[in-house]
Amino acid sequence: MRLLSLPVFCRTAWIAVGASAIGSFAQSATGKGKVKVEEVYQQNCASCHGAKLEGGSGSALLGPEWKHGGDADSLFKVIRDGVKDTPMIGWNSLGESTLRALAIYIREEAYAAAHAKPSTRKTTEDNAPVVTKEHTYRVETVVTGLENPWSLAWLPDGRRLVTERPGRLRILDTKNKLSERIRGTPEVFARGQGGLLDVAIHPDYSRNGWIYLAYSDPRRLDGEDVSLTAIVRGRIKDGAWTEQQDIFRAPLKFYQTTRHHFGCRIVFEDGYLFFSMGERGRSDHAQDLTRPNGKIHRIFDDGRVPKDNPFSNRKDAYPTLWCYGNRNPQGLVRHPVTGDLWETEHGPRGGDELNLILRGANYGWPKASYGMNYDGSPLTPNTSLPGMKDPIIYWTPSIAASGLAVYEGDAFPKWRDNLLAGGLAKQEIHRLVLDGRKVVQREVIFSNRGRVRDVRVGPDGLVYVLIDDKNGKILRLRPE
Ligand code: HEC
Repeated sequence: MRLLSLPVFCRTAWIAVGASAIGSFAQSATGKGKVKVEEVYQQNCASCHGAKLEGGSGSALLGPEWKHGGDADSLFKVIRDGVKDTPMIGWNSLGESTLRALAIYIREEAYAAAHAKPSTRKTTEDNAPVVTKEHTYRVETVVTGLENPWSLAWLPDGRRLVTERPGRLRILDTKNKLSERIRGTPEVFARGQGGLLDVAIHPDYSRNGWIYLAYSDPRRLDGEDVSLTAIVRGRIKDGAWTEQQDIFRAPLKFYQTTRHHFGCRIVFEDGYLFFSMGERGRSDHAQDLTRPNGKIHRIFDDGRVPKDNPFSNRKDAYPTLWCYGNRNPQGLVRHPVTGDLWETEHGPRGGDELNLILRGANYGWPKASYGMNYDGSPLTPNTSLPGMKDPIIYWTPSIAASGLAVYEGDAFPKWRDNLLAGGLAKQEIHRLVLDGRKVVQREVIFSNRGRVRDVRVGPDGLVYVLIDDKNGKILRLRPE
């Protein structure tokens, strides 16, 4: 399980295969020996396409020009079916998950050829205008010196609350001065991906003063440190967190020793509170309706459980479930115009997803996915299964999906109603133009300035970006 926390950009991909059989990964996933996906490529493809995918008697596989389409699905199909009357035979015999892995590998190599590796990329700090399709903007630094900032929320008076994953909640005033940590917030499990996560303001905050925090709750179980996502609300008075109430806390038996896949974003709607919980690295739990992890939940904003949740007719189901089969939901947002609930999900390698969240739906993890394991071994040949919802789009290679926002505001009128999806590993923000429930256009509007943890739109219509780093910061996009 430790492998799951490897960076998405791990370039050495291992695929389990039988000792000599290149032929069938699917069967040999149980694994006799281990062969690199690169090796499969070298043995079967390199003679024509070149050892570095640079081309030979076969075409170069690095893009940006593709004869048969360069997206993961087109690559998969051309490798499976071959190209009639050319030396490119169909490789169906390799098995679907191997074909999928090869497609991901080619996408990753093509991406690497077009971009410097994020880890060695020089992040820009300059203030030159950034030209995108619809708008030109400049990047401003709002504040620096934040340790792994995770989330940002506006108070009605223009001040902002910001969480730092190690466990600090701070106030950023209207002059962009950062307060000391708010005293008395819950202790968090600040390990791996765990810690203090989302902060959200009750829609009726001006009247009730409630602030919500999502975090990795640290507990002890059978002599071990365990954790699970929890939500509390409280009020801030004189620099201290007070009047705390539990909003969601699962029974201790559901807590896990792992340090990854916590979720967690909070969305309010009409007295309800939706929130996401990652599967905590226990992929099989995502399909298990008796467990809270790997799901999106619906409760009332005071923590009560609605009687009409989709699985409430099932005695054994965890009562707050809204949907299931989610791996690690990192973005969750209600579209203010259509009312749709959108989610981005940190998938396996090559399988990050944008999902439309529907009542009672199954999002397929880990039975259906476009990705492979981070170690390059096949995960599932199924990208789609009956009774499970396909993603609206998926990202291969993975962007390491993070925060998600819907753009509303006057500063960037041509981005209105678009989704803005952040990516940690790719250090990007993707603008997704919707037509109803379809994504009809995709554009990278922001890149190369560090790992994007969250994207928020301020009441000023400017786009705020949280850069996740030990010395993290908040940036802001302002139109030219
Ligand atoms: C005997 C030579 C040969 C081998 C071996 C071979 N290919 Fe090809 N491949 C070609 C040729 C030639 C084309 C171009 C076909 C055409 O004219 O459209 C091609 C096309 C492709 C394309 C489409 C490229 C585009 O521009 O759309 C992909 C992807 C591809 N091959 C992947 C693979 C993979 C993966 C393997 C190994 C499993 C492989 N090929 C093995 C010769 C080969």
